[in-house]
Amino acid sequence: MVLCSNQLFPILFADPFSLPEILPWVLDKTIISLFLFCFLLSTENLLVLTVATKETEGFTRFKRSAQFFNYKIQVLGLDEEWHGEDDKAAAGGGQKVRLLKSALKQHADKEDLIILFTESYDVLFASGPAELLKKFKQAKSKVVFSAENFIYPDRRLEAKYPQVRDGKRFLGSGGKNQFGISRYCISKWGLLFHCLKESINISLDRRSRIFQNLNGALDEVVLKFENSRVRARNLLYDTLPVMIHGNGPTKLQLNYLGNYIPRIWTFETGCTVCDEDGRSLTGYKVRTDLVQTLTWLLWALVAYSWLIFLSEHGKEYHAIKVIGPDEQLENAEARHLGMDLCRQDPSCEYYLSLDADVVLKNPETVRILIEQNKQVIAPLVSRHGKLWSNFWGALSPEGYYARSEDYVDIVQRRRVGIWNVPYISNIYLIKGKTLRSELDQGNLFQSSKLDADMAFCQNVRDRGVFMFLTNRHSFGHILSLENYETTHLHNDLWQIFSNPEDWEEKYIHENYTAALKGKLVEMPCPDVYWFPIFTDTACDELVEEMENFGQWSAGGNVDNRIQGGYENVPTIDIHMNQIRFEREWYKFLLEYIAPITEKLYPGYYTKTQFELAFVVRYRPDEQPSLVPHHDASTFTINIALNHVGIDYEGGGCRFLRYNCSVRAPRKGWTLMHPGRLTHYHEGLPTTKGTRYIAVSFLDP
Ligand SMILES: *[C@@H]1O[C@H](CO)[C@@H](O)[C@H](O)[C@H]1NC(C)=O
Ligand SMILES: *[C@@H]1O[C@H](CO)[C@@H](O)[C@H](O)[C@H]1NC(C)=O
Ligand SMILES: *[C@@H]1O[C@H](CO)[C@@H](O)[C@H](O)[C@H]1NC(C)=O
Repeated sequence: MVLCSNQLFPILFADPFSLPEILPWVLDKTIISLFLFCFLLSTENLLVLTVATKETEGFTRFKRSAQFFNYKIQVLGLDEEWHGEDDKAAAGGGQKVRLLKSALKQHADKEDLIILFTESYDVLFASGPAELLKKFKQAKSKVVFSAENFIYPDRRLEAKYPQVRDGKRFLGSGGKNQFGISRYCISKWGLLFHCLKESINISLDRRSRIFQNLNGALDEVVLKFENSRVRARNLLYDTLPVMIHGNGPTKLQLNYLGNYIPRIWTFETGCTVCDEDGRSLTGYKVRTDLVQTLTWLLWALVAYSWLIFLSEHGKEYHAIKVIGPDEQLENAEARHLGMDLCRQDPSCEYYLSLDADVVLKNPETVRILIEQNKQVIAPLVSRHGKLWSNFWGALSPEGYYARSEDYVDIVQRRRVGIWNVPYISNIYLIKGKTLRSELDQGNLFQSSKLDADMAFCQNVRDRGVFMFLTNRHSFGHILSLENYETTHLHNDLWQIFSNPEDWEEKYIHENYTAALKGKLVEMPCPDVYWFPIFTDTACDELVEEMENFGQWSAGGNVDNRIQGGYENVPTIDIHMNQIRFEREWYKFLLEYIAPITEKLYPGYYTKTQFELAFVVRYRPDEQPSLVPHHDASTFTINIALNHVGIDYEGGGCRFLRYNCSVRAPRKGWTLMHPGRLTHYHEGLPTTKGTRYIAVSFLDP
């Protein structure tokens, strides 16, 4: 395909090249170049031609950006078999050139049609046709090529390019290797014939006024936020390019920019709640194959989050397979095994990978993810109040974590949307179809040097599949499991340090906050306060933990002063330190008891120090009651751990000086009273069943 006479050439380049040499290079090797013969600056007459043989997500992105700015596009070659590489040396140009030729023929009679020819998989529009045509006109050339800092395919050509004082020197080219350069071509077909006769001016868009090739230019391009619009801006030349090309190794940067210019993934394209065939998902029966792959280490943690999730929502899933420690699988192998179950089953539509450290709070999560209609999508989950999350916004050159400019805003949901990101983990949904097509080769998690999650993401990226993250809803969070103890009956009780928010939610009474504000605090006897502190779960687990430990003994706990003398008042008890819970108990006292103490006894500051903290068991046949005594404390808390009237009868506490009793202790509520001097008290007899209380002598 000869477009123009070799008069074209001297204008562009120094001798001795001739057009017949350069054109095949432009149109074959580069595949797509950009020519714009522009006489008529009407956007009506601009047609975008592109060759795409597969609807990759890169193509979808291109299409959406074109739609967003109202470009008219014609796609060539869709669903044709692609011969790509093998074909490039074939006579008459490669497949793309042939497709272009026949499309041009089709438009041959349209005199004033302006054609923009561009590649699409790694290109997006950043502005509309009007601006593009205006800038072209200002270039005062009939052909504008994009330019860049690298020369390809042949470095020997370098000397042939004129030196430039300012701007990029080299003609953008295409090609498959890492230094591929631009491939834009705008052409006014009607004039192609004339150029045989005419000399035409061709220029390079050296200052990226129209085309921004990202290769070698990553530092030049920044996002510019302006009201509701975001533009990519070239800092070096202070220009706002109209098209962005993620050429060479810059695909990830294009993915990042594609999140903003325009908000390609977030803006609505019609049906908001629909599947691929446009059917509404309302009433769509979520039928998901859920397979949890657990490694050895995580096995013991299942009870914490995953089984709870399953027991609540398990019925909604089609098949559940738990792979436990017996199978002795490596992380990568286990994950592959789970994923492969879905891949091999043609009826598996979605695969949800969910790690044990994810606490899903939103029961709609799976439906929401399906509705986004993406091949791979993760809901944002992060650690409470931390920046630790299940995605990375950027990669370092070595492929490890790098913080993107928007990372914090996305984690904290100050920017909300659907984000194309280079790394996801912990929880994600994959279409079964994708597992059986783009992602069908081998074990995606296996790698000699990367850990399983990173290997997976790299494989997904390498296969051209976009990974998305949505933070449009709140979904849940990630636990910190590094210090998770697995030796107790109720290991969660020990999580007050590592996962304090989860601990609080599980164990602290819902009305504690009200009590802290002075509401709901009762005073059944003078200076004896009574307020809610523990959930039923906290009470039950503490009792079970003690019963599980089982070594109840009559320790010398209570300091009984009668007429100036000491007498030990032993209780049947187990101390917090016997179950290795004293650090956690101290933390609890400091976090939850100290603030309320200082409210109720103004002017007193406690460090909630204790020597004695224990759970007491009262039974009619064991120890039903406790004789009057003082406590070896400045103040005492006494938390009822079970229900009077249900678990036991009788019980309570009587303060002798005031002739005042608390007779119906409430489960999860604590009594708080001064220890010495004034609040001489006795434990009233338990007449039936077993009564448990947790007692702490504070500031002894
Ligand atoms: C090419 O550009 C030069 C300088 O800008 C101008 O003088 C000349 O008329 C142009 N030629 C055509 C064919 O547009
Ligand atoms: C918390 O207080 C409210 C209002 O007094 C009450 O209705 C609710 O039952 C309390 N919650 C619990 C768990 O006792
Ligand atoms: C203590 O209170 C009870 C009833 O609450 C009363 O019957 C009794 O007389 C009181 N004892 C003294 C010593 O005040």
